Amino acid sequence: MAEKTIQLEVKRQASPNAEAVWEKFELEWRPGMNVTSALMEIAANPVDASGKETTPVTYDSNCLEEICGSCAMVINGKARMACSALIDQLEQPIRVQPLTKFPVVRDLAVDRSVLFENLKAVKAWVPVDGTYDLGSGPRVFPQQQEASYPLSNCISCTICMEVCPQFNEATGFVGAATIAQTKLFNAHPTGKVYKEDRLRALAGDGGVQECGFAQNCVEACPKQLPLTEAISDVSRDVLIQKAKDFLRA
Ligand code: SF4
Ligand code: FES
Repeated sequence: MAEKTIQLEVKRQASPNAEAVWEKFELEWRPGMNVTSALMEIAANPVDASGKETTPVTYDSNCLEEICGSCAMVINGKARMACSALIDQLEQPIRVQPLTKFPVVRDLAVDRSVLFENLKAVKAWVPVDGTYDLGSGPRVFPQQQEASYPLSNCISCTICMEVCPQFNEATGFVGAATIAQTKLFNAHPTGKVYKEDRLRALAGDGGVQECGFAQNCVEACPKQLPLTEAISDVSRDVLIQKAKDFLRA
């Protein structure tokens, strides 16, 4: 083993219902390594710290530059992106485990489909599909573009949900990302055609009122989305929508 090494401990789980076990690895240090590249080293040579052969660690990753949102995991107790977690900035042994609020598929790979189901529930898209040319869309003032841009940076990593005390089975809370995307699409001149549907989807159990304003989400979001501001704004809009629906009834 080289002079400078990395001590890594990885929580392994062979299948969704298998018992989890910790495995220790010792890897050769190289400059600029991050947690994902360390996991790649293990894949290239799946041998644990005692020299015993093991299997490559399963994990999600794609872009390697904090854009695709797939590599979220818990590193030294903190939910963060593995591709931007530099080895030299981490205390060793580095302990790596899957997100805790999502079902484990295998090792560090978890099933985060709940976020995508929540996004579907609030119709988090601009409805532009058609069989003919719809022409150019409505113009958006630069001020509005600037206001919306930070919300468009969401990478669907689910870290805001992982760190939220209210995101659990008891509340069914949709989480900050879905609420932020509601604000984004409701502000869009074409997207707002679904504004009322989105607000109604967030008006009941599991909706925006479940937020306890712990503010963990805004601190943990790797893309620095203005999440608490979005939750406040959407809460207000949901209340207005409820009042309108009451008066219409
Ligand atoms: S709001 Fe931030 S933490 Fe939540 S999914 Fe989007 S990028 Fe990740
Ligand atoms: S691999 Fe895409 S965000 Fe980390």
